[in-house]
Amino acid sequence: MRTYLVTGGAGFIGSNYIHYMFRKYGSSIRIINVDALTYAGNLENLKDIEDQDNYTFIKADITDADAIRKIFADNDIDRVVHFAAESHVDRSIKDPEIFVKTNVLGTAVMLNCARAAWEMPDGSFQEGRKFLHVSTDEVYGSLEEDGGYFYETTPYAPHSPYSASKASSDFLVKAYIDTYHFPANITNCSNNYGPYQFPEKLIPLIINNALHGRKLPVYGDGKNVRDWLYVDDHAKGIDMVMEQGRLGETYNIGGHNEKQNIEIVHIIIDTLLEMLPENDDRGKLVSKDLITYVEDRKGHDRRYAIAPDKIRAEIGWEPETMFKEGIRKTIAWFFEHEDWMENVTSGDYQKYYEEMYANK
Ligand code: NAD
Ligand code: TYD
Repeated sequence: MRTYLVTGGAGFIGSNYIHYMFRKYGSSIRIINVDALTYAGNLENLKDIEDQDNYTFIKADITDADAIRKIFADNDIDRVVHFAAESHVDRSIKDPEIFVKTNVLGTAVMLNCARAAWEMPDGSFQEGRKFLHVSTDEVYGSLEEDGGYFYETTPYAPHSPYSASKASSDFLVKAYIDTYHFPANITNCSNNYGPYQFPEKLIPLIINNALHGRKLPVYGDGKNVRDWLYVDDHAKGIDMVMEQGRLGETYNIGGHNEKQNIEIVHIIIDTLLEMLPENDDRGKLVSKDLITYVEDRKGHDRRYAIAPDKIRAEIGWEPETMFKEGIRKTIAWFFEHEDWMENVTSGDYQKYYEEMYANK
């Protein structure tokens, strides 16, 4: 039975990936989920699988080398899928240091412990072991509005403390590949959306605010472009790179789904109004009048867009979910999980929201 060590599995993409993997492989794999349970980590995301014999949760911080070393010593880990990170650009602008600690130092610890566990006396690595580092297209910087795409060969040019910390972590992985022939892949993906996404990010924040009749904050002129990828398509891409990716290679994973932020907000409002039953009072609250242009994000990247040519040609992965379908699935999930949204937005979230949006 193959054993996966997933870091950050209690977060948005990690929990979707774990669900995807159990749907696909059932009891033929074992997953150990290591997560520090920061504000973004939520064990409720994995409630339906928590009692499975082939699933284990370990609360640990990836910067704690002793704890991570012990997990490798106690378990025969075949594969590492490394999601754990601080992931929100606005938070990185306010408090950059924790991004350096978790994203850079945390990745260094993960690499070191995996290498120590997998390297043989002659410097080669045990057969079948692999480390997949999950990164972002934001490391490539910002594209012009009217053209161009990010390729694996695009030079790194990160702008925010978040993307700079992710770029640093990518370089560490590349250094391990070049120096030790460490068996790894890096994936750089575009903006994900789907179930379990924390409502600090654009799509769940707009859905939640609209359903409560709250202002819908749009930064700057609302014309920044992101390339939206449905999270299940991403999970599938990660699994395919793990299985078929050539060692040492980077693969970009994108949705071919470019939209301006203001378009996203309009689509969400239209879809909410279409999907809400007639007798649902929330329908009276949802309105385009809630759209409020606010002060722009500092250093706001204008456009991200991935050309997923390499992963399509080499591995046969393609995004399958059109945005219209993905957003309906996402909204349907939020309708069915109102209690999830209530739980994650109580307590600290209120404080975060007031601090982040008070002066905007
Ligand atoms: P998230 O913020 O929802 O989840 C991060 C998870 O990591 C949480 O469960 C958190 O508790 C855990 N974590 C944070 N610090 C930790 C630490 N020190 N030790 C152990 N666990 C820790 O993030 P996400 O959106 O699921 O993103 C996952 C990965 O994908 C990140 O590496 C991110 O950079 C990358 N990524 C995300 C997107 C996106 O659109 N969400 C796009 C591109 C890349
Ligand atoms: P976000 O979901 O934070 O992802 P990222 O910054 O990693 O791309 O933001 C997506 C886009 O939406 C980005 O251009 C910033 C913008 N945005 C808003 O306009 N309003 C908001 O309240 C948020 C959170 C984001």
